[in-house]
Amino acid sequence: MANEALLTTEGLTAGYGAVPIVYGVDIIARRCEVTVIVGPNGAGKSTLLRAIVGEIPVLAGRVRLNGAEVQGMPSNRLVRLGMAYVPQVANVFPSLTVRENLEMGGFRRKSGVKEKISEMCDLFPDLKEALKKTAQNLSGGQRNMLALARGLMSDPTVLIVDEPTAGLSPRYEAVVWDHIVRVKETGVAVIAVEQNTRRALQGADWAYVLVLGRRRLEGTGAELLGNEEMVQMYIGKRGTVAAVANATGTQEEADRESEVGSKP
Ligand SMILES: Nc1ncnc2c1ncn2[C@@H]1O[C@H](COP(=O)(O)OP(=O)(O)OP(=O)(O)O)[C@@H](O)[C@H]1O
Ligand SMILES: [Mg+2]
Repeated sequence: MANEALLTTEGLTAGYGAVPIVYGVDIIARRCEVTVIVGPNGAGKSTLLRAIVGEIPVLAGRVRLNGAEVQGMPSNRLVRLGMAYVPQVANVFPSLTVRENLEMGGFRRKSGVKEKISEMCDLFPDLKEALKKTAQNLSGGQRNMLALARGLMSDPTVLIVDEPTAGLSPRYEAVVWDHIVRVKETGVAVIAVEQNTRRALQGADWAYVLVLGRRRLEGTGAELLGNEEMVQMYIGKRGTVAAVANATGTQEEADRESEVGSKP
């Protein structure tokens, strides 16, 4: 049976002023699944996330969280209702330690902060070693893990992350994706926007392709990796998908190629 839908948008139209940037977008994010949103630069991916999390106005349509309509609610209320958002930039406090960052992520908790930090250390062993380090002294990959862990400190049912692997080497990209998969296995619905289309589709239970603010394609990650339009228009022609789907190249070759071909 399909996993329960924890977050849905219906006809979501949103933008920064009166003119919409995203138009009539429907998405469903399910418990224990990673739902990814991919698409060209400027397609409106971050805008869609910001509308869902209450950072910018919803001009039309609905957002439902655990069945309740939440469009138009301020971000702090959405956090209390179980939504966590990890923006692409400024997602940790650089001068605070890892532990302090985690404590801030859990500041709305009435109890159990210590226990939750220890749970995060089990989920992200790198952070356990680094609890006393300031965030600015972490590697890029560790910082992204800290940002994810901070988001999880509020016990969200839906974790929304914008480009969790931006700027990372292919090796760290893979590590961060492994952790995203572990997060979904804890019962969370994860929504991720990702710049590396091939990597995102590999990790996706379901994926949406956003183009010019509209939903253009959807399917399982595997389906979209095999979709001709997807390959030609949004993944690149350098064989990254062929390397994955037909195992004609090594993983290393695929990674090198994806760096060139992932951002159309
Ligand atoms: N704060 C803002 N005010 C006005 N327009 C904005 C703002 N932020 C983004 N836009 C515009 O909204 C459109 C979509 O931008 P958005 O950042 O959502 O795209 P994206 O798909 O996340 O792109 P990228 O892959 O580059 O992150 C772009 O035309 C952009 O110029
Ligand atoms: Mg963006």
